[in-house]
Amino acid sequence: SESNQFCDAGIEYGEPGCGISSSSSKILIKGGTVVNAHKEEVADVYVEDGIIIAVKPNIKVGDDVTVLDATGKFVMPGGIDPHTHLAVENGVLESIDDFFSGQAAALAGGTTMHIDFVFPVRGSLTAGFEAYKKKAKNSCMDYGFHMTITKWDEVVSKEMEIMVKEKGINSFKFFMAYKGAVMINDEILLEGLKKCKSLGALAMVHAENGDAVYEGQKRMIELGIIGPEGHALSRPPMLEGEATSRAICLAGFVNTPLYVVHVMSIDAMEEIATARKQGQRVIGEPIVSGLALDESGLWDPDFVTAAKFVMSPPIRASGHDKALQAALSTGILQLVGTDHATYNSTQKALGIDDFRKIPNGVNGIEERMHLVWDIMVESGQISATDYVRITSTECARIFNIYPRKGAIFPGSDADIIILNPNSSFEITAKSHHSRSDTNVYEGRRGKGKVEVTIAGGRIVWENDELKVVPGSGKYVEMPPFSYLFNGIDKGDAKYLSSLQAPVKRFKSTD
Ligand code: URP
Ligand code: ZN
Ligand code: ZN
Ligand code: ZN
Repeated sequence: SESNQFCDAGIEYGEPGCGISSSSSKILIKGGTVVNAHKEEVADVYVEDGIIIAVKPNIKVGDDVTVLDATGKFVMPGGIDPHTHLAVENGVLESIDDFFSGQAAALAGGTTMHIDFVFPVRGSLTAGFEAYKKKAKNSCMDYGFHMTITKWDEVVSKEMEIMVKEKGINSFKFFMAYKGAVMINDEILLEGLKKCKSLGALAMVHAENGDAVYEGQKRMIELGIIGPEGHALSRPPMLEGEATSRAICLAGFVNTPLYVVHVMSIDAMEEIATARKQGQRVIGEPIVSGLALDESGLWDPDFVTAAKFVMSPPIRASGHDKALQAALSTGILQLVGTDHATYNSTQKALGIDDFRKIPNGVNGIEERMHLVWDIMVESGQISATDYVRITSTECARIFNIYPRKGAIFPGSDADIIILNPNSSFEITAKSHHSRSDTNVYEGRRGKGKVEVTIAGGRIVWENDELKVVPGSGKYVEMPPFSYLFNGIDKGDAKYLSSLQAPVKRFKSTD
């Protein structure tokens, strides 16, 4: 049964209101270094009924308050993962982590909110939204939704409006790859960009040239390269660079902000860098697998090991990882996601004779906060304040829920982690909280450990124990017109007036 499965994973849980649910509605975190994106300071944090009430030194409380000592540790906003696929159906099967198990894993790793991608159901955005609300019914942490656009007509256009104005969705994803499935063409992308702009919604792209990927896959199969390494060989970085450049061009032409999901290569990153240098509003999201891994696993002689690294765009050759880290540390890329989409080894085995049939996706929702701390902060590439920005605050700003999320301020939601920089972590499939039987970071160790996670004012992770409550997670509505849209209308007005400058023409007869 499911309850056995979770107990084995070290999770205690109960129905809302039962004994194990809320440790306390009043919590004082004492003596830690409180880190926000703009500064860090030694202070206490007082929480009541799910909200941060006070952030200042020497807060005195009564004995009905749970006190956590954070001396020598960092007190930071819980992570927000901008890119997950829980209980996603890829046409053949459903991923192994649903909203409950995926979120439990997230909480054990210091992430307290995620934004998942809704897929339309039989072409309907509304039906897709309802289906995902059902999938998320047992949520144990807060979540939001992006919506995927897979075709174009008047109904889709109208439904986009409903999603933004009534359903709390402020972003739409377009797949430029997965030919024959969810891929859209440039005409649909242009329509979508125009609609996004008019609604103040953010357009997101999966940027790979899907026609060329299709051709590359055929090429590999014809050469007899049917194993997981064929996945990487069939869709090289240049195809990601091309699609990134094309999406940036079209968004620039429409003059609307663009968010490039899972930036995996130097090629794509450099297109973003160039556009940003020219003043275009382009956001680039690397994901943990792109920062922490290289493609060598795809060449592992053991199929189960190699197949677990299959995701799209592919994890790249060594060197891309370091370049993406550098781009993140200098602000060329702005925030880190995971693209968490997990399939166990029996599901991955669908592609044992043909890499094209291996379900795409890797884990990361539990590992993101630890790996980013180790790779970026512990290595000296960024500060703790930057860490908060790229794991939480920037996501909250882009999706327009700051400072309710992404900050430790009085009035913010009490989504908080305590990270001990002197403690260490080790990642194994045996000890992780995902339902997957493998982990792409198997055996990886690093410094910095999330010792406590507080979500919605509840202590849900402490002493390596999860105490989560199904149904306690809330759907977070995200309003349109984030800061990325500020001044866009002025740019449009300037462009229009430049077109209307009179042209003086002379008759050729005089
Ligand atoms: O391989 C991946 N990334 N699977 C999830 C779907 C997507 O492309 O984001
Ligand atoms: Zn148990
Ligand atoms: Zn994608
Ligand atoms: Zn994805």
